[in-house]
Amino acid sequence: MNYSSILLNNAARIPIIGFRTSTIEDPIQLKLAMEAALKSGCRHFDTNNLNKNERIVGKVIERWISRGLLKREELFITATLPMAGVHPERVEIFMDKSLKNLGLDYVDLYLIQFPVTVKYNEIIDLPVNEMGEIQTETTDLIEVWQKMEDMSDYSRARAIGVSNFNKDQILRILEKARIKPAVLQIEIHPYFQNQHLVDFCGQKGITVVAYSPFGSPRTNPFNKEEGSLKNKTFNVLEDKTVISISEKHSKTPAQIVSRFLVHMGVAIIWKSSNTSRISENMDIFNYSLDKSDIIKLKNLDKGDNARTNSMALKGLLEHPEYPFK
Ligand SMILES: NC(=O)c1ccc[n+]([C@@H]2O[C@H](COP(=O)([O-])OP(=O)(O)OC[C@H]3O[C@@H](n4cnc5c(N)ncnc54)[C@H](OP(=O)(O)O)[C@@H]3O)[C@@H](O)[C@H]2O)c1
Repeated sequence: MNYSSILLNNAARIPIIGFRTSTIEDPIQLKLAMEAALKSGCRHFDTNNLNKNERIVGKVIERWISRGLLKREELFITATLPMAGVHPERVEIFMDKSLKNLGLDYVDLYLIQFPVTVKYNEIIDLPVNEMGEIQTETTDLIEVWQKMEDMSDYSRARAIGVSNFNKDQILRILEKARIKPAVLQIEIHPYFQNQHLVDFCGQKGITVVAYSPFGSPRTNPFNKEEGSLKNKTFNVLEDKTVISISEKHSKTPAQIVSRFLVHMGVAIIWKSSNTSRISENMDIFNYSLDKSDIIKLKNLDKGDNARTNSMALKGLLEHPEYPFK
């Protein structure tokens, strides 16, 4: 099997393809999808406890390890600090919660999910007031990053990183950091290539992980529920250019898009709950795109207009650290 990885600045390797578990809400569906991903060779899992499904992820991992099918060190597990945890006094609490749910001693990567703090609430991830605004708090990114560094010192997270941070926020972290972020996880797909941030991270030795690589074709149910003011969806997989390149190489549109993003030098995490699409998404390394294909795909970029995950929610938009202004 041809399965590649990228060297991180903490000297660990992140597998280029990862499976994103967090939007599969049904426990049986998640278990079946993870089994299919593992059988297809996937060893990189990106988790987020938003849908309270870390325990299922942990159970599947435990089953594979206890049956001798897998060693912990073969896996790359990412967990995420939610917005309620973006507070110096809460980083360790959320880290330990995730480790307990996952049944692990450490994660390979711990990410700050979004650079804004929301009020801590045991039950609701994004608490709203009577005006329908998300209840936020003051955010001190430097103090939070120092606590992330502690998680690395305590060997609970092998690597630490950030998600949805903009260039200015990353620069502020770099200025004060004892441990540099290893990863920036951001939205990237052919319509929204985010090339300036990818280039900037390349210069700073930060690996980029692309989320929503297919442009999140069936939209983001989370943002819909929360009433995003800007959220859009694009079906990159139905794009005429992508389809014509896929026909030329006898590959699927998803395989073309994945291969293109790998060519950009980023790792990718996708979600699928369909077993045949999971094995299709893992099978992208046995061909390469031509120069002319790359040029055509590069030209699909629509810039910031094609961001699907704006998190443009009342209350968040007005926060001084809202990253997508
Ligand atoms: N750090 C963050 O803040 C973060 C990270 C990741 C995502 N997100 C959020 O989560 C939302 C959803 O993102 P996502 O990761 O689900 O996006 P995605 O991976 O680009 O798209 C997932 C969708 O693509 C379909 N799909 C997967 N493989 C396919 C294939 N080979 N052919 C055709 N369709 C395929 C899946 O359907 P099936 O399941 O039916 O296959 C699923 O509906 C985003 O808008 C974003 O808001 C946030």
